[in-house]
Amino acid sequence: MDYHNPVLLKETVDGLAIKPDGVYVDVTFGGGGHSREILKRLGADGKLFAFDQDKDALENAIDDPRFTLINENFRFAKRFLRFYGAAQVDGILGDFGVSSHQFDVAERGFSTRFDAKLDMRMNQGDKLSAYHVVNEYAEEDLSRVLLQYGELRSAPKLARTLVSVRKDQPVETTEDLKQALQSYLPKGREHKLLAQIYQAIRIEVNQELEVL
Ligand SMILES: C[S@@+](CC[C@H](N)C(=O)[O-])C[C@H]1O[C@@H](n2cnc3c(N)ncnc32)[C@H](O)[C@@H]1O
Repeated sequence: MDYHNPVLLKETVDGLAIKPDGVYVDVTFGGGGHSREILKRLGADGKLFAFDQDKDALENAIDDPRFTLINENFRFAKRFLRFYGAAQVDGILGDFGVSSHQFDVAERGFSTRFDAKLDMRMNQGDKLSAYHVVNEYAEEDLSRVLLQYGELRSAPKLARTLVSVRKDQPVETTEDLKQALQSYLPKGREHKLLAQIYQAIRIEVNQELEVL
């Protein structure tokens, strides 16, 4: 199975107007589709630095002397680039969100298709997981997350329900989460609502807006 099939690959890289001897950064390496396209357009003196916080992405590392893959959150990019002597760069590419690989590996907990432990961490070493958000966040915080990142008008009710369910026993798995919120998942729109709930929790777990 492909790790990730990048969308608008050529168009996005065209936007960088690559100079053959330039220094570029791909802050969301994933399967490396964008990085490979950048390398094709760089000359022998060009450089590409790529970041991905998911250690699974390391399996896609590109064997090329012009390329460096850094297994870190791009929020620390400045520090790492300085370390590599690349304080000045000519362009940065970001393809934000989750990779197909992250969606397709059931135990990562990103997909509504599988039953898995509540996880959703892009960096498997992070402390904050979906379990923590769903089971330990105060009701107001849970409601804020669902409203802001999932655009769910029913956020206060969803948060109240989760807090009430978890009093009896923790919401451990994606199936538990679905069961807990079943009465808010109308037939036919079940998947859409669940996807919004997952999106909200995932954005919070990975602090996706804070790092930008
Ligand atoms: C949509 S995929 C990128 C796919 C990539 N452009 C390709 O061609 O395969 C997003 C990737 O960025 C990574 N990512 C997201 N936020 C990150 C962050 N703050 N720091 C480092 N990596 C991040 C994810 O782990 C994921 O692998």
